[in-house]
Amino acid sequence: MTDVLVIGSGGREHALGWKLSQSKKIGKVYFAPGNGGTTNNVKIAVEDIDGLAKFASEKNCLTVVGPEVPLSLGIVDTFTQKGLRIFGPTKAAAQLESSKVWAKHFMKRNGILTAQFEIFDDAKEAKEYAKSIDYPLVVKADGLAAGKGVIVCSNTLEATNAIDEMLIKNSFSTAGSKIILEERIDGVEASYIALSDGNTAIPMATSQDHKRIYDDDKGPNTGGMGAYSPTPVINDSLAEIIQKDVIDKTVDSMKKEGNKFKGFLYAGIMLKNGKPYVLEFNARMGDPECQPIMMRMDSDLYDYINASIDGTLSKLPLISWKKQSAVCVVLASKGYPESYPKNEEISGLDFQDKNSFVFHAGTKRENNKILTNGGRVLGVTALGDTLNSAIFNAYSRIEKISWQNKYFRKDIGKKGLLAL
Ligand code: AMP
Ligand code: GLY
Repeated sequence: MTDVLVIGSGGREHALGWKLSQSKKIGKVYFAPGNGGTTNNVKIAVEDIDGLAKFASEKNCLTVVGPEVPLSLGIVDTFTQKGLRIFGPTKAAAQLESSKVWAKHFMKRNGILTAQFEIFDDAKEAKEYAKSIDYPLVVKADGLAAGKGVIVCSNTLEATNAIDEMLIKNSFSTAGSKIILEERIDGVEASYIALSDGNTAIPMATSQDHKRIYDDDKGPNTGGMGAYSPTPVINDSLAEIIQKDVIDKTVDSMKKEGNKFKGFLYAGIMLKNGKPYVLEFNARMGDPECQPIMMRMDSDLYDYINASIDGTLSKLPLISWKKQSAVCVVLASKGYPESYPKNEEISGLDFQDKNSFVFHAGTKRENNKILTNGGRVLGVTALGDTLNSAIFNAYSRIEKISWQNKYFRKDIGKKGLLAL
């Protein structure tokens, strides 16, 4: 039996740990730093690579990294140098996510379909370019910005304001000191996540996120307000195309460039005229996509994580999935993605139900109470025989949970129903 250390504190990490703890081959699952819903929490920050390595070495455990920040700081490189087993990409490979500029150049030189783009570090030049083109733009900060460094614009004024925000006001600090101006692609968005061992990649179940804060995809982007799996937006033939033209091409090209990618490879896809454009890569699982995907996974995640580390994925069968649908609705604190209150007591969490599970994110446990502690607070996730029934089960579960400033979207999964 192996013990596992899951790094992170979100709903994604709760779901990964929940799934791993079901494996007969796994003993204790620790979380660093974890949240109010996870057990065996260890008070070490995700950026404290040496502290995490010391703990993993003392416990002789396998480490699974949830979020992008420790990956971009080189946690996999440090652990590997110390002879510790860890799942995820190296710092160089994680550039697919940590530098959008790097990822755009990578896609261009390897013929992976993506929106046309230009890179700028000078506001005047960027604004002149924005005025010179006649299609709508998206303005993106180069570095990590917790899903908030992308401004989708409808006209030149919005684009120039976004340029000012990043290059003049430095709202995204150094993450926004270089920016991308790219063609806005209007289509249908979906998430395609695969698991790679550096040589080959196998698909995870398909899913669709809901990034905007308000119903009907209105308002600013967030880290994600809800997700469901599988998505009818990616049918089998489209999945084959994305696997071949995006995932396999990326894994092969990374290998050829001497920069093997191991771990979850997440392609944010915009489908337009039947073609998959890559909007972004993430070098990790999606949050909240991970929650419904883990709920549907029948195979033992531990086997696949080991195969990714050892480079033996081609020896395993494809992952098997429940036929059912799963829906995760994120319960947030009113005000997110801007400022929001904390420390509000949450009630209604004791209720048990075999069709649903409440993954914690921004929560903490104090004196046996669960308090809000972040913008995205809970991920209420439910299975159902159809997408419709999974939606019904998730929203029924939500009715029992309350706190003062609870906010959630009422239309999670509706995009999927419309596509059926
Ligand atoms: P990213 O972090 O690059 O995926 O961007 C966040 C979100 O902004 C995406 O999930 C899309 O909803 C939107 N977005 C990004 N790039 C584009 C684009 N080129 N065209 C249209 N929407 C985009
Ligand atoms: N749900 C989008 C992300 O994890 O980046």
